[in-house]
Amino acid sequence: MTKISSLDPRFSVSNKTLDRQHLTILNLRSSALEFFYDDKVGDLKKFTKNLYELHSRILDHFYTEEEILLKHGYANLEEHILEHSSYTEKLSYLFFDVSNGVIDKPNMEFCLLDWVPRHLAEWDMEYGHFLQIH
Ligand SMILES: [Fe+2]
Ligand SMILES: [Fe+2]
Repeated sequence: MTKISSLDPRFSVSNKTLDRQHLTILNLRSSALEFFYDDKVGDLKKFTKNLYELHSRILDHFYTEEEILLKHGYANLEEHILEHSSYTEKLSYLFFDVSNGVIDKPNMEFCLLDWVPRHLAEWDMEYGHFLQIH
């Protein structure tokens, strides 16, 4: 998968820091998917490193995003934090499994294929519209 150099403006959340973090996450996710679907998982060391990077960037991002939303008085912050927390738990399991040489395909697909684009398009875009007018 090709690395994207800029975020599609339709997915901008009206905050440069958060847009930049989303772009980094999307690129790390693409590399992880590439490992997975191109059957490069054999190179488990690189795959684990990729997931480690993705995991830590996502944790940093959630922290930043929640801080910014708190500062702006975003009304749905509590639900948004819960959504982040439940994902963080699943992503931590995924990373732990991969570190131990175990590939949990359903969790992998949930964490990489399903959750990230859905969260960006639905949950994050919702606060994006809010930030546009606040
Ligand atoms: Fe979010
Ligand atoms: Fe986000």
